[in-house]
Amino acid sequence: MSEKPIVLGGSNGEHLAVELAELGSLELGDIEVRKFPDGETYVRILANVADRKVIYINSLQRNVNESLVETVLTIDALKDLGAKEIIAVIPYMSYARQDARFNPGEAVSIQTIAKVFSLLKIDYLITIDMHLHRISDPNRLFNTKFYNITGVKELAKYFKKKYEIRKEETIVVGPDEEAEQWAKIMSKEIGDLDYFTLEKTRISAEKVVIDTRGVNVKGKRVIIVDDIISTGGTIIEAVKNLRELGAAEIMVGTVHPLLIGNAYNRLLRLKLKDLVGTNTILSPISRVSVAPAILEALASIGVV
Ligand code: R5P
Repeated sequence: MSEKPIVLGGSNGEHLAVELAELGSLELGDIEVRKFPDGETYVRILANVADRKVIYINSLQRNVNESLVETVLTIDALKDLGAKEIIAVIPYMSYARQDARFNPGEAVSIQTIAKVFSLLKIDYLITIDMHLHRISDPNRLFNTKFYNITGVKELAKYFKKKYEIRKEETIVVGPDEEAEQWAKIMSKEIGDLDYFTLEKTRISAEKVVIDTRGVNVKGKRVIIVDDIISTGGTIIEAVKNLRELGAAEIMVGTVHPLLIGNAYNRLLRLKLKDLVGTNTILSPISRVSVAPAILEALASIGVV
């Protein structure tokens, strides 16, 4: 058994740090984060981290750019203060959807963010359902030992525990092709349910259209699963279409409930059977914790 690490949480990760420390019987440390009058971020590590393994947790949301600066300042300070090993857990890695130059002249944001992270010399980087669709080698991109774990298993456990789910009347749906991986995990974890994905075309940041040709959900209980709910456009369109096709009941699970703007209220109006997210980002629907998944990942790489 390796020496026990200390857990620290940033402004958007403290809730998970507290849970993880409790769950893994680990020491919990404190960080002071505040603002200078001119808006700059001030970070002070209050725990003694010299010669210690440190697990630092922070999601790069709700205030995306501020949490990024806070995370960079914190990790660099940990290194500077002599932390022996740094395990950065970034449950929500922002900027990952801008992973290509879709229009001439655009910044490929995730490449730049990864360059900054690689300068920090983190020993392990753990993300949760990071948008990796066009990233083939994240270890190289971030220049560290990179692990992308899933929160979908925790969502599946939630549905399984709360509802009596019968295979013959339930179907798992991913709202677009990229969501197949999550639909597959959800299906397997609940009990080999049928699953399929819809065909989605994005028109703008808020508007998508969905092609439902060949889709049969008549009389079925549907569980929609996606990595992110941002504006809610994808889920709203998927629910509208599946209802038109006669779905009997719809539940929605997401790993990262960004719920930008009025997304939550728009989703509430759908009167879904259930709408649940994990706590990678705190939101009104973050009822499923990813702390067990993080602990499992830390154990599997021998950190705890
Ligand atoms: C797309 O790649 C993601 O998997 C989500 O489907 C998307 O980010 C959801 O965004 P919105 O809620 O704005 O439709």
